[in-house]
Amino acid sequence: MNDEKRRVLVSDLKYDQDEVDAVVEVLKSEWLTMGPKTIEFEKALTEYLGAGDTIAVNNGTSALHLALLGLGVEREQEVIVTPISFVASANVVLYLGAKPVFADVNPRSFNIDPDNIQKVITEKTAAVLPVHIAGLPAEMDQILGIAKERGLKVLDDAAHAIGAKYRGKNIGTISDISAFSFFSNKNLSVGEGGAVSTGDKSIAERIRLMRSHGLTKSTWSRHHDKDQESYDQLYDMVELGYNYRITEMSAALGIVQLSKLDGFNKRRQAAYNLYKDLLETLPLEMQDIPDHATHSHHVLPVLVPEGMRSKVRLHLEKHGVGTSIHYTPIHTFTYYQRLGYKIGSLPNAEMIGRRVVTLPMHQNLSDDNIHYIVGLLKDALAL
Ligand SMILES: Cc1ncc(COP(=O)(O)O)c(C=O)c1O
Repeated sequence: MNDEKRRVLVSDLKYDQDEVDAVVEVLKSEWLTMGPKTIEFEKALTEYLGAGDTIAVNNGTSALHLALLGLGVEREQEVIVTPISFVASANVVLYLGAKPVFADVNPRSFNIDPDNIQKVITEKTAAVLPVHIAGLPAEMDQILGIAKERGLKVLDDAAHAIGAKYRGKNIGTISDISAFSFFSNKNLSVGEGGAVSTGDKSIAERIRLMRSHGLTKSTWSRHHDKDQESYDQLYDMVELGYNYRITEMSAALGIVQLSKLDGFNKRRQAAYNLYKDLLETLPLEMQDIPDHATHSHHVLPVLVPEGMRSKVRLHLEKHGVGTSIHYTPIHTFTYYQRLGYKIGSLPNAEMIGRRVVTLPMHQNLSDDNIHYIVGLLKDALAL
C-alpha cells in the first residue's frame, strides 16, 4: 500500500449487514428500550459465559456502579482498586461515598498485585476491584484467596475481558460479580452498553430493580403480562434506583456481535502472536502472559524506554498510525490530586503511566499493517 495514504486506527469496529439488519428490525418493531432484544441478549450472554445470571445495562460504568451496590458497599467503606485503569473503575467507588484505595500493579502484567492488596487492607475495606487490564486476567486465585481470608467481596472489572479465561474459566464467572463494557472500542461493541454477571440470585434481582428506578415492573412486562393479579397497580418503587436501561438497538447489536466474538478474538490473538514475534528484538516490554491465562487482546500496551514515548507516538502518527495510552494512573489526575492522593505513592503504576504506548489492536488489523507498524517502531527507537 502507498504509505502516504495509509491510515491504521488504534481500534476499530467490525460491523456488516447483520448489524444493520438487526437495528432496522428493532426500529421497525417500534419497541426501542428494554424489551425482547434485551431479554434475548441477556440470555445469550449468560449462555456464552456458561454460569450465573446476566443483567444488561446502558454502559460499563453503570454496570460497575450497580455491581458495587449489589455487593452492599456503603458510605465510608473502602474498596481496593488498581491505579492502571480507565477512571470509571475508581469513580464508581466515589459515587457510593466510599473510598477508592489504590494498590500498586505488577510491572510485568500491569495488573493489580495481590501482595500490594494485602498491604492496604484495613478494617474499613469492603471489596477488591481488580481490572483485567488490556484483557489479561488478573491473578484471581490469589485475589479470591485474600478476599476469602479477610471477608471481602470481589468485583472484577471485565470491560476489556469478554472472551478471556482464567484457568479455563470464563472471566465473568469467577468472582462475586463482574462488570462488562460494550463501548464502541470494545471486543464486543454496541456503541454504549454494558452488563453485570453474578452467580448470586438475590444480587441479580436487586440489580434488576436498581437498573430501572427501583421499580417492581418494567414497561415491557406491564404491557405484556396482562394476566398478573395486580394488573390494576402499575408498579411499586421499593429502592432508590437509577435509569441505567439499555436500548433495544444496543441489545440487538449485542446479540449479533456476541455471535461473532470468538472469531474476532481469534483474529486478535493471531495479530498479537505476529506482533510478539516481530517485536522480540526491540527494546520494548509487553505484558507477561502466564500459561493459565487466555488474554482477550482488547488493546496492546507496550512499554517503551523512559523518555521515548512522545517521539515514538509522534513518529507513528506522522506515518498514519494511531496510538493511545492505557493508562495514565488514576491517582495522578487533577480530581484525585484534589482528594489528596499522592504522586509518588504507586511507583509501578507511575512507571507504566510514563512509558506505555497502546499500539493498534483490533479484528480488522492486517498482517501487512503489523509489519508496517513494527518497521516504524524500529525507526523511532533508533532515532
Ligand atoms: C477498564 C474499564 N472500566 C470501565 C469502563 C467504563 O465503561 P463505559 O465506557 O462503557 O461506561 C471502561 C470503558 O471504557 C474501561 O475500559
